[in-house]
Amino acid sequence: MEQFESYLLAHLPMAPSFHPHYEDALHQMLISGGKRFRPALLLGVVNAYAPLLIKNAYSAALAIELLHTYSLIHDDLPSMDNADLRRGAPTLHKTYSDVTAILAGDALNTYAFEVLSNASLSDKVIVKLIRELSHNGGLNGMVLGQAIDCYFENTPLALEQIKMLHIHKTGKLIAASLKMGAIIVGRDDIAQELYDFGIDLGLLFQIQDDILDVTQDSMSAGKTTNNDEAKNSFVTLLGLKKSIEEANALASKLMLQMESFDENLQRELSPTLTHYINRHKE
Ligand code: IPE
Ligand code: IPE
Ligand code: MG
Ligand code: MG
Ligand code: MG
Repeated sequence: MEQFESYLLAHLPMAPSFHPHYEDALHQMLISGGKRFRPALLLGVVNAYAPLLIKNAYSAALAIELLHTYSLIHDDLPSMDNADLRRGAPTLHKTYSDVTAILAGDALNTYAFEVLSNASLSDKVIVKLIRELSHNGGLNGMVLGQAIDCYFENTPLALEQIKMLHIHKTGKLIAASLKMGAIIVGRDDIAQELYDFGIDLGLLFQIQDDILDVTQDSMSAGKTTNNDEAKNSFVTLLGLKKSIEEANALASKLMLQMESFDENLQRELSPTLTHYINRHKE
């Protein structure tokens, strides 16, 4: 992942102009770090089946991270979650202005697809990757999840509805990361299985995030926490204890499923997966 990090830093969006901070704003949340969980999933699948393609896959991993980063910038806006801290740094609307944060998000969103369209992969593969990323990150994916998340603040949803919300706002992009890895290596035969696994993994990731919102302080999370009171989070619906039980049950299911992956996939993905599947236990 260090090599991917260097790649990302060498491929920051360039927008030289007489605007005093537009380009800096585009870079800031990307260089502030983040776990790079979604790129790690995509690159893990590529390394399992076609390690020679790993460098070609970096641009697809970058595209996912760009789209994810845009979603965080918008998520933190005053009209959405109103958060001051992200990736250990002040959010863009705090440093600059709402308009700069909105436009930096817009720019990273479309730049993700520009990057994908220029990937050193076949046109056919590129079209499939664009389809996956736009489908899962867009109007029937992450954005729908965010729309439901924000609309139903202070309006309690049922557990199944919260699962649907979490699967959309977080699960689909995580599922797409695994599936895009499979597409790059031409393993369309395992793409659906990986996608389904990724949906559960993403649901777990968001349940854990809901747990961390109440168990971690902002300093250690690197982002504003204790921010979900009005939200339909697992913790607001079920309480902390039951949310941890739900996370444990899903974690056990995923660990078992992971053990049925073939040898190559387990070798490449199990360190990352084991860490993240169990992160709420730390
Ligand atoms: C945060 O995502 C938003 C959620 C979907 C829970 P991450 O926890 O992956 O954030 P970064 O990328 O590490 O900053
Ligand atoms: C956000 O979920 C999911 C996104 C699509 C960005 P949260 O609002 O819980 O994410 P954090 O806790 O702010 O990172
Ligand atoms: Mg949110
Ligand atoms: Mg948020
Ligand atoms: Mg959260």
